[in-house]
Amino acid sequence: MTPPEARRILVTGAAGQIGTELVSTVAERYGPGAVLATDVRDPAGWAHDCPAMQLNCLDAAAVRRTVDDFGTTAVFHLAAVLSAAGEASPSAAYRTNMDGLLNVLEAAAAVGCQVFVPSSIAAFGPTSPRDPTPQAALQRPTTIYGVTKVAGELLCDYYHARFGVDARGLRFPGLISYSAPPGGGTTDYAVEIFHAALEDRRYTCFLRPDTRMDMMYMADAIRAAVELMDAPVEALTHRNAFNVTAMQFTPAELAEAIRVHVPGFEIEYDPDPLRQSIADSWPDRLDDSEARSQWGWQPEYDLSATVSAMLDGVGRLAPVQAGSARR
Ligand code: SER
Repeated sequence: MTPPEARRILVTGAAGQIGTELVSTVAERYGPGAVLATDVRDPAGWAHDCPAMQLNCLDAAAVRRTVDDFGTTAVFHLAAVLSAAGEASPSAAYRTNMDGLLNVLEAAAAVGCQVFVPSSIAAFGPTSPRDPTPQAALQRPTTIYGVTKVAGELLCDYYHARFGVDARGLRFPGLISYSAPPGGGTTDYAVEIFHAALEDRRYTCFLRPDTRMDMMYMADAIRAAVELMDAPVEALTHRNAFNVTAMQFTPAELAEAIRVHVPGFEIEYDPDPLRQSIADSWPDRLDDSEARSQWGWQPEYDLSATVSAMLDGVGRLAPVQAGSARR
């Protein structure tokens, strides 16, 4: 394990929903000079607390060169196309999610650095047990995003077994945050709803009121990623694709929890068939007992703490930024 003072952390997808908060956390923890934020988007257009550059993960030579030049000890590979966006162009989603990961793993194998790769509830499908979904369960997802997540989990295991790459990962539930908007997922309603509650006091949800899904507040997700990467390898019986969870709720239950703080908040439902069918194919609740026992995973934010933190955070955003989270 690289000592903290020698860490050199490269983040891909740094302008995204997870990347924005991960970069701040690791820059604060290891110093801004220890972090390189990269994204396919020009860094002039997004906020970062450390050096940043444009990097397309599909450019294998650029990925290899950047990982090398930075003296990278760990890549947090967050660049990906999410579930609903993936269905708009499955082949493009496949290329971004698989070829991007392959390029990162190749670079990691060459320089001997760690890799963190998020997997997802989307790695399960309608034939997986849904409440709870065990760590080891049948994985037959029905979205291209889910297909790439299962294949990505396997690719990480393969690069570890074949080339010794210390590739670790978590199966995240839907992630709730306000610093940067999610990029076209099915769980995005649980972010949009907070912006709508504060701006309009009403929200039209693209899922049915009783659609139960697994969720987590971003601060917990970032802590989970950092803790897993720091976990002593002797404690782990596997490294990759740990189920993690924090809470489960339906849109109706989330609206009720928001109404405690925003009296008169109204929700109506206009289910989108694509996103409803995706949500219906996913787990209600992941069984995260392996993460808890192997590296001490413990969430801190339940529904009520998440609602308070989100209303507080969204309330502090500049109006233009808050609006962009709803697109
Ligand atoms: N939040 C993701 C999505 O909805 C799931 O990993 O696509």
